[in-house]
Amino acid sequence: ELNLKESLFRLNKAVMGFYFDELKQSKQGEKARIYLEKRGISKDIIQQFKLGFSPDNWESIVNLLKKRKIPKKVAVQCGLVLERKQNNGYYDRFRNRIMFPIFDVNMQVAGFGGRVMDDAMPKYMNSPETPVYIKSRILYGLHAAKQFCRQEGFVYIVEGYFDFLSLYQHGIKNTVASLGTALTSDHVRILKGYASKMVLVFDSDAAGINAAKRSIEIFMKEGVDTRVLVLPEGNDPDSYIVKHGQDAFNDLALKAKTVMQFLLKVSIDTHGLSVEGRIRILDDMKQHLSLIQDSALRSLYVKELAETLNIDEKAVLEKVREQYLKQN
Ligand code: GTP
Ligand code: MN
Ligand code: MN
Ligand code: MN
Ligand code: MN
Repeated sequence: ELNLKESLFRLNKAVMGFYFDELKQSKQGEKARIYLEKRGISKDIIQQFKLGFSPDNWESIVNLLKKRKIPKKVAVQCGLVLERKQNNGYYDRFRNRIMFPIFDVNMQVAGFGGRVMDDAMPKYMNSPETPVYIKSRILYGLHAAKQFCRQEGFVYIVEGYFDFLSLYQHGIKNTVASLGTALTSDHVRILKGYASKMVLVFDSDAAGINAAKRSIEIFMKEGVDTRVLVLPEGNDPDSYIVKHGQDAFNDLALKAKTVMQFLLKVSIDTHGLSVEGRIRILDDMKQHLSLIQDSALRSLYVKELAETLNIDEKAVLEKVREQYLKQN
């Protein structure tokens, strides 16, 4: 097993080198170079994060595996090639995509993500789970960000590759990307090793807001000081910082909402402040409030909510208590 993992890491590293060279030098890679330039990604970032290009062939990696005499077991488990039907050999998983190697925290190449350069679907593909790529534990960029997370005492959590790379390029280096998957308690525990505070910066669209809501529950269960940075509608961290720059991003970060402020805003936006709306909001919020472990903090939020909704504080408290008893 240990040997298998080592073989997989070694193979991934070789494949990363192949994709990297293809981006840098190949004729086909020209469109990938242009794509990254259009997205504003610098040569330094390409170099540091070893971005690459998977050529539009079915057997580039298949041939690389053959040349390196990779044992069948490793080839099958690396996730880079897929078995053809009727036992008819293998073909490459990633074709004609911008490639993002995904490093683990020890700088080993655990897996890959690949993006198309047009509107084709799926927009992204990622390596499947392998013995070295465990999605519930990997955070994109942590290997580079960890020292800056320690330095700053907090970490920004963004959704995508380009969000991470753009922030990093603009000097905001205490960032990791969740890669669109739901955050797990393992992710949060790993991050706690580097910073005690976390700031969620998800896309300002319905999917991003839902992802933020799901993640918040995990943060609260893990008792982490969490803020939510809400970007102007239609933005993600990448588009925002490319348009407005680092200073604007930092200004916005100062106004990051507490988790409760964020959840309340989402609920108000959903239900409105009519009498019926306020009752619905109370229903939404009692759920969240009953998860707060610290009773002093909980009572402060109850007070704030009661004031916002113009509902008697005791009535709010009663609702939260009911909910708490239901859950425990
Ligand atoms: P880019 O800026 O070009 O990355 O597009 P975007 O900002 O519209 O990306 P989006 O917000 O849709 O996705 C954020 C992240 O979720 C991506 O970086 C991927 O990690 C992941 N993701 C998005 N689409 C897919 C998909 O179709 N399949 C998979 N597996 N992951 C995806
Ligand atoms: Mn999105
Ligand atoms: Mn996005
Ligand atoms: Mn984007
Ligand atoms: Mn609701």
